[in-house]
Amino acid sequence: MQVLSVTPEIFPLIKTGGLADVTGALPIALAAKGVSMRTLMPGFPTVMAAFKKKKAVLQYPLLQGGKASVHSVQLAGLELFVLDAPHLFDRPGGPYGDASGGDWPDNWRRFAALSQVGGDIAGGAISGYQPDIVHAHDWQSAMTLAYMRYGKAVGVPSMMTVHNLAFQGQFGAGIFGELGLPAAAMALDGVEYYGGVGFLKAGLQAAWAITTVSPTYAQEIRSPEFGMGLDGLINMRSSDLYGIVNGIDIGIWDPETDKHLVSNYTAETLDARTPNRAAVEARFSLEPDGSPIVCVVSRLTWQKGMDILATAVDGIVATGARLAILGSGDAGLEGALLAAAARHRGRIGVVVGYDEALSHIMQGGCDAIVIPSRFEPCGLTQLYGLRYGCVPVVARTGGLADTVIDANEAAVSAGVATGFQFAPNNGGALLHAMRRLVDAHADPAIWKSLQRQGMKADVSWDKSAEKYIELYRSLLSKRVA
Ligand code: ADP
Ligand code: GLC
Repeated sequence: MQVLSVTPEIFPLIKTGGLADVTGALPIALAAKGVSMRTLMPGFPTVMAAFKKKKAVLQYPLLQGGKASVHSVQLAGLELFVLDAPHLFDRPGGPYGDASGGDWPDNWRRFAALSQVGGDIAGGAISGYQPDIVHAHDWQSAMTLAYMRYGKAVGVPSMMTVHNLAFQGQFGAGIFGELGLPAAAMALDGVEYYGGVGFLKAGLQAAWAITTVSPTYAQEIRSPEFGMGLDGLINMRSSDLYGIVNGIDIGIWDPETDKHLVSNYTAETLDARTPNRAAVEARFSLEPDGSPIVCVVSRLTWQKGMDILATAVDGIVATGARLAILGSGDAGLEGALLAAAARHRGRIGVVVGYDEALSHIMQGGCDAIVIPSRFEPCGLTQLYGLRYGCVPVVARTGGLADTVIDANEAAVSAGVATGFQFAPNNGGALLHAMRRLVDAHADPAIWKSLQRQGMKADVSWDKSAEKYIELYRSLLSKRVA
């Protein structure tokens, strides 16, 4: 089976969040099960710089305003089609905006181009390569499914995975004429969305199957509270909607071999976490004592509940726990957390920025990781936490609810608990969870059991890759012969 994945991000080449981890790990998990996944992605500067030998397999004299070509390359165990279109992707800054964080005004053009190429490849534009299935991720590649539906690849099964419904790619109607789609596509059951063009909406409409990254989030997005305006459409398509929880790459995230750690360890040698803990204390200027260090590794945004955390910090310090916070995002939240660190020197440390290596050390050295998200399609940091014996404390929502077993009395006495859940998501409930954590940490037997149970949990891609394959197969069986 040949699957074409279309994505704006892929680990280790370009990453702004969990999407990259998923699109980077899934092909490797699928390959182990005999499914070949090739990935079409934009030729951002870091991506173009990563490969030397170029071999164009597709040329465009004119693609959304400039010359473009597609290169077939193998990098880091991944089979890639890289879309080299300098007028769209050769820019400094991040994948979606300049260094100051503002979105590029022509993002619609950039990701329409990516999607158009996805549609072409699905239609057989690359000689010798015909995908059986096309799998698109988030709004940036969602239009691929529209280009397929209104083009040559209408008979090729497609899957739309929603990693985050909050980002929808909504643009004014004025762009429609430049998308190269037939006039009929500008319709309620096409790409039209509230009078404009909706990229994610178009993908949800055209997809043969829709998936999201946890069963609970798949249910949640059917409600107005989580549906972000798309719940009506999602409900209409509910018979094609699936929730498949993300895994993690357990080769990269393995405390026994992780090169970023100061000290490697297993569930049997938890004491060997101590040097990592000391490294965290030093990096975050925390007073070294026996109290639990609770970490945050996150985008600092409203989605992640970082404002809830910011208002609860004084109460958290009062429980005796220390906080080590790594993140970047909203300037206001960065300021609030830095101010909290200044108020509570030695008890709260904040590093503003994005630091992959430090994130590993934190998972390997902190006692717990707190994730107070308002909504969380899946969440990966709690999975890393489980694998590293860094006990997750999570809001009971989306994938967080699906992956962490709360340490209630029944679960503790059955020996199956792996962390703490709290609801509703507010400062009071968060503090209550923190107090439970501090109490549990004071009992070494309970704490070790939480860590070991978490480390035993299957957070690999194994089962979820099987689920994707099952779904791909069911879509293939729906093809008209
Ligand atoms: P989202 O994609 O919504 O941000 P996820 O939990 O799915 O949330 O994925 C976030 C990913 O980004 C994880 O791999 C996490 O470790 C990483 N990450 C987030 N913030 C930082 C940071 N400041 N430094 C290093 N890694 C980070
Ligand atoms: C999104 C979601 C996150 C999920 C990730 C990968 O960024 O916010 O919950 O884990 O995608 O699917």
